[in-house]
Amino acid sequence: MDRHTLRRVRLCLWTVTAAIMCLTVVYLNVLSEGKTRVVKRSLLELDLTEGTASPDGKGGEVLFFNRVPKSGSEMLVLLISWLQSRNGFRHYRLPGGRAGNDRRLSTQRQEEVVSTINEIKSASTVPTSFDRHIYFTNFSSYGYQNPIYINLIRDPVDKMISRFYYADLKKRKEAQQFEECVAAGAPECRFINGHLYDLAIPYFCGHEANCSQLNNRDALERAKSNVEKYFKVVGVLENLNETLSVLERSLPRYFRGVQELYFNELQTEMKYNKNKNNPRKMKESTRRKLESSLKLEYDFYYFVKKRLLNQRRWKN
Ligand SMILES: *[C@@H]1O[C@H](CO)[C@@H](O)[C@H](O)[C@H]1NC(C)=O
Ligand SMILES: *[C@@H]1O[C@H](CO)[C@@H](O)[C@H](O)[C@H]1NC(C)=O
Ligand SMILES: *[C@@H]1O[C@H](CO)[C@@H](O)[C@H](O)[C@H]1NC(C)=O
Repeated sequence: MDRHTLRRVRLCLWTVTAAIMCLTVVYLNVLSEGKTRVVKRSLLELDLTEGTASPDGKGGEVLFFNRVPKSGSEMLVLLISWLQSRNGFRHYRLPGGRAGNDRRLSTQRQEEVVSTINEIKSASTVPTSFDRHIYFTNFSSYGYQNPIYINLIRDPVDKMISRFYYADLKKRKEAQQFEECVAAGAPECRFINGHLYDLAIPYFCGHEANCSQLNNRDALERAKSNVEKYFKVVGVLENLNETLSVLERSLPRYFRGVQELYFNELQTEMKYNKNKNNPRKMKESTRRKLESSLKLEYDFYYFVKKRLLNQRRWKN
């Protein structure tokens, strides 16, 4: 076999493996969804509704990680799922939100998410937590109490690079190709004010179209005010130490022990995955160009970072 055939065979094998993995994940999701429903129904049949199900009020607490993509959320979800047995709560990964067009929802679909969360919460005897890629959703406007929101963001340009390589993982793009993409103004590497993008701000602003508009000041202001009102903690990937410390202090019911877990267990595991397919080098001029296109995303990023560092200081 020559090198090209070999490469093609390898690519083919890779695709088949990926497909099998996808199917397994879907199958497991269906299974666990089915299970959730069965558990829920039997508990509801026993009339263990809110109040009776949680005489101590514990089951009433809900944490919602409406995670921003490509910002370290899988790592935080992993920590949360490890913490649930230690700290006596239950974590649910909500289906949906995996496709880019499934995060900004109609009011009807928002209401479905809100009521799913409330059904699970009502049937639970322990505190619950949920994660899903979804824009900020105001539970009050559907007649429910808002959950405790948390989220995690990262440097907007780094996030963009990460998304670029993730989308083209199979092609193993080189750092240079990202530069070319930006220089050529290709659609996936170009930003136009007022157009809709799946960036960080809508995860804090909401589902209205103007929340997704690039460099919309109203969206920025709404996002900031929602952070203050509804988000107990918004972490920053570049400040992971501070993020974990603030999570542990502000939400001990969920995050007690998270720092120890991260430094003793996760970090050793992650060393294996580091520095692969993750080229970060970029010309300063390209970075500057992107930074100025993402002006209000940076405004938001620095706002969140400042808030996090203040929380860290005050709680020391
Ligand atoms: C959320 O909904 C409540 C009730 O409708 C409303 O008073 C509040 O202003 C809303 N908050 C946001 C940020 O839209
Ligand atoms: C978006 O536009 C709608 C309708 O014009 C307005 O009611 C809403 O307040 C706007 N939201 C933001 C975040 O600017
Ligand atoms: C984060 O905390 C760990 C453990 O306390 C420490 O070893 C490490 O140096 C810290 N990293 C930074 C960037 O502060």
